[in-house]
Amino acid sequence: MKQRSNFGSKIGAILVAAGSAVGLGNIWRFPTEAGNNGGGAFLIIYIICVLAVCIPLLLAEFLIGRHSHANTGSAYKILSPNKHWGFIGKIEVCGAFLILSYYSVVAGWTLFYMVQSLLNQFNSMAKHSGSEQIFSDNFNNFVSNPWQPLLCLAAFLLITHFVIVKGVKGGIEKSAKLLMPFLFVLLVVLMVCSLSTQGAAKGLEFLLAPDFSKINSKVVMAAMAQSFYSMSLGMGCMCTYASYFSDRTDITKTALTVGVIDTLVAVMAGVVIFPAVFSVAGLSPDAGPSLVFIALPNVFQMALGGIPVLAYVCSLAFYILLVVATLTSTISLHEVITAFLSETRNMSRKRAAALVTAGCLVLGTLCSLSMGVLADFKIAGMSIFDLFDYVTAKLMLLAAGFFTSIFTGWVLQQKIIKYELTNGGMLKFRWFKLLIFLLRFVVPVAIALVFLDGIGILSIF
Ligand code: PHE
Repeated sequence: MKQRSNFGSKIGAILVAAGSAVGLGNIWRFPTEAGNNGGGAFLIIYIICVLAVCIPLLLAEFLIGRHSHANTGSAYKILSPNKHWGFIGKIEVCGAFLILSYYSVVAGWTLFYMVQSLLNQFNSMAKHSGSEQIFSDNFNNFVSNPWQPLLCLAAFLLITHFVIVKGVKGGIEKSAKLLMPFLFVLLVVLMVCSLSTQGAAKGLEFLLAPDFSKINSKVVMAAMAQSFYSMSLGMGCMCTYASYFSDRTDITKTALTVGVIDTLVAVMAGVVIFPAVFSVAGLSPDAGPSLVFIALPNVFQMALGGIPVLAYVCSLAFYILLVVATLTSTISLHEVITAFLSETRNMSRKRAAALVTAGCLVLGTLCSLSMGVLADFKIAGMSIFDLFDYVTAKLMLLAAGFFTSIFTGWVLQQKIIKYELTNGGMLKFRWFKLLIFLLRFVVPVAIALVFLDGIGILSIF
């Protein structure tokens, strides 16, 4: 058997996992979701979801990965008493492949916007009257262009590929150690710039002032779904990374730190976005691509245009931030599939990575073209891009998370769980009964509700 690599340090383990968690979800979805759904009140619900659902599941993925010392596709099978539970790992590997394919398309867009920022193109666009329309056309023309987004997709996949072939320690860990602190610095610089705009008070109020009257079951579901996606659960990323943790890594501490970093980055992204948005009259906060690719490039120019250098620097810093956040997530998804292929199909890491990159390029191309020439091609009423998003985020990810909690809570030998949480008796873990209770009852029920809500069944009632 081939010798498996390890992450060299505890901080490396934390940063790679946090890198996977911090992504587009933190920047383009969390802030708007929080602002529209009760601000600080939403944040409280979100933190409860992180503590009661996501951290237990993250611990489950961590301990399955580290105990098996194997890729996700094999890990569940190795630990399963009757081998039947191996299917969870297979769902995760397939899910990671599909997510990587469409996520890389958006990743490519971030690269394009970074280059546009670098060339200071937003500055001249914002000078015209009716600039909102210009920015909207800029985005729509780009994504529906037959080759530009494909080029960006290929470039992003190649960068990811390059990190992966450099290896677990020399590629993944090294890049996270470099990129995650950089991401933090960018966030702080951007926060300072944004808070200096005249919309600061209004923006902070929108993001943080608690309004409990907005909290209802729909909002709780939204918080749960968001926290789940944001922590990269159910896709094998955390399980695969944990298989490279050393025996001395404290997985409880690592899981809690990842939860804190992921939530903190999401809130900080809100502090960057809303003060700037609210300093431009007439704009209402949006989410997703229209927020980061249509509204924000305009907002940065208008809110900070008094000092053109500042508008330039902030806009560039923001798109670099997006590229970095996205890259650390695509790396984690790529590794899930590369590790699976190289360990189960007996091929070199290089060859496995090349296959993954090529496969994602093909699927990603279809997703990308579904914004343009293939826009009329619909499956179940959805474009290929939307279908990938729906099948992964609303079905596969939740299914894998559900079965992981059932597997860990009910099937896995408890002595394995205890062993991993205490590093073979070296550490104290006081919450064992609570963790098992959460994994047996709370997590599966919570995920099942999000699942039913996502496919529209709960809304019938
Ligand atoms: N957590 C990432 C985000 O917030 C998305 C992601 C999901 C990455 C699942 C890997 C696996 O954008």
